[in-house]
Amino acid sequence: MTQKAPTAAPPSVIVIFGAGGDLTKRKLIPAICNLKKQGLLAEQFAIVAVLHRQVSSEEFRGYLKKELPEVWDEHNPETWAEMEKRIYTSCLDFENVEGYGELKSLLTEIDNGQNTEGNYLFYLATPPRFFGRIAANLNAVGLSHEANADQWRRLIIEKPFGHDLASARELNQVLHENFAEHQIYRIDHYLGKETVQNILAYRFANSTVEPIWNHNYIDHVQITVAESVGVENRASYYEHSGCLRDMVPNHLLAVLSIIAMEPPNSFNANALRDEQTKVLRAIQPLSPEDVLKQTVRGQYGPGKQANREVDGYREEVDIDPESKTETFVAMKLMIDSWRWAGVPFYIRTGKRMPGRYTEVVIQYKHAPSAMFHKSTQSLRQEDLPANMLVIRLQPNEGIDMIFNAKEPGPSMKLGSVIMDFHYKDYFGSDPTTGYETLIYDCMKGDATLFKRADNIEVGWEIVAPILDVWGALPTRDFPNYAAGEWGPTAADELLERDGRKWKDCGTFCET
Ligand SMILES: NC(=O)c1ccc[n+]([C@@H]2O[C@H](COP(=O)([O-])OP(=O)(O)OC[C@H]3O[C@@H](n4cnc5c(N)ncnc54)[C@H](OP(=O)(O)O)[C@@H]3O)[C@@H](O)[C@H]2O)c1
Repeated sequence: MTQKAPTAAPPSVIVIFGAGGDLTKRKLIPAICNLKKQGLLAEQFAIVAVLHRQVSSEEFRGYLKKELPEVWDEHNPETWAEMEKRIYTSCLDFENVEGYGELKSLLTEIDNGQNTEGNYLFYLATPPRFFGRIAANLNAVGLSHEANADQWRRLIIEKPFGHDLASARELNQVLHENFAEHQIYRIDHYLGKETVQNILAYRFANSTVEPIWNHNYIDHVQITVAESVGVENRASYYEHSGCLRDMVPNHLLAVLSIIAMEPPNSFNANALRDEQTKVLRAIQPLSPEDVLKQTVRGQYGPGKQANREVDGYREEVDIDPESKTETFVAMKLMIDSWRWAGVPFYIRTGKRMPGRYTEVVIQYKHAPSAMFHKSTQSLRQEDLPANMLVIRLQPNEGIDMIFNAKEPGPSMKLGSVIMDFHYKDYFGSDPTTGYETLIYDCMKGDATLFKRADNIEVGWEIVAPILDVWGALPTRDFPNYAAGEWGPTAADELLERDGRKWKDCGTFCET
């Protein structure tokens, strides 16, 4: 089968708001450089770094070179020389509309000099409180206006999209007053991960998968997003956000929706996002009693990680020593649909876990046949390990199928074996940041991997009852897990009550 090679994105200017920040340095510039290296940027291309302080283009280029030696080393000097001369700076205060007039003049100048055709990608790498104001100021000076059918003006915004359902709705409303929905690209870098997209390929490009992807064959699903790091330098954000807001409405539900959605009619942005929203809407709303029974919150105390003593959350810099902020969440969700009737989805995420893992476990039901009952092992049906599919999003991206095989020898003895697919064995290691695809897709006008307003709101609707109950009943038992553990014991009990247990990430356990 011949596949079309990707073509370079159309001429455009990427305007990065908050270009002096961490995200720009760590992710955006390296991603743009990778796109350049892969020939996916047009010749007519420029970057405008919007900064708080007056910094010349020359100074900013010097700063990037100094801060990103590895990016510099990875690219040949010609690539950098090409990139460098296309980087400009603009100084403004996000909140002050005056500076936006100057930005507009600079963009016109660049269009004239570099033939970028008035196509602008505004990347808001800024604290979230500025999203609405920047969109309004861009609109006020006419920078959101697309002059003709060929010209585009797009806005990428980073998470978090609001703090709860009301603020998410408010943000969507302000954005819609200034940009049309088709111009808004809400980034969830999880969706940019190759392996998340590979779930779509695995499910929908293989005829053997979909027929058994339902309650007839699947016992339950587990989704784990474990971080080994603590709060790092995000204390002021995290203290107000907590783990639930930070991870669940966006990343975990994005993965869940891709696992659980119905096949879209096409690999088209709206078709895909319709199905994702539909399945999230089918999640059974949690009553206050359900919240108490089906959700678990935790906070890490001091502990040991990789033989190193680490502080508890409350001892971290800029954290309230009495903090009630959760750093771990687990919950059981049920989906009201024909496909998923009676199949629990257990999700968990936390900081200071034993390792950095993102895994999806599809636990199949036991094989119905009791024919091995009379084998030498005298296996009963429930003793025979059930098949398990493990989709590893990180590390060691790949897919494992665990199934039963006969052990060599004269008797009929069974054992679990693993059929494993490692992404890097087939496709080489993936040196990308995860942002390349997202930036490229936005320049091409493909919103498939971005969130639509309704995707965002339904995510907040799902967690709203949890926020309400947890807000009304502050916990008294924090910290309730030690750094380096898999969360509080209540998270294990959540599954044990249903006769199940979490699969240890990074290993293969028998059911
Ligand atoms: N960092 C990451 O790896 C990461 C990962 C995922 C998502 N995100 C999201 O990406 C966004 C950006 O993250 P970040 O860590 O790069 O942000 P950041 O460092 O907190 O802020 C970016 C820049 O905004 C500038 N700024 C603040 N107020 C301003 C104002 N009134 N006018 C003009 N400039 C102003 C700051 O410049 P001054 O310091 O000069 O004031 C700062 O350099 C956030 O929404 C974050 O949640 C970040």
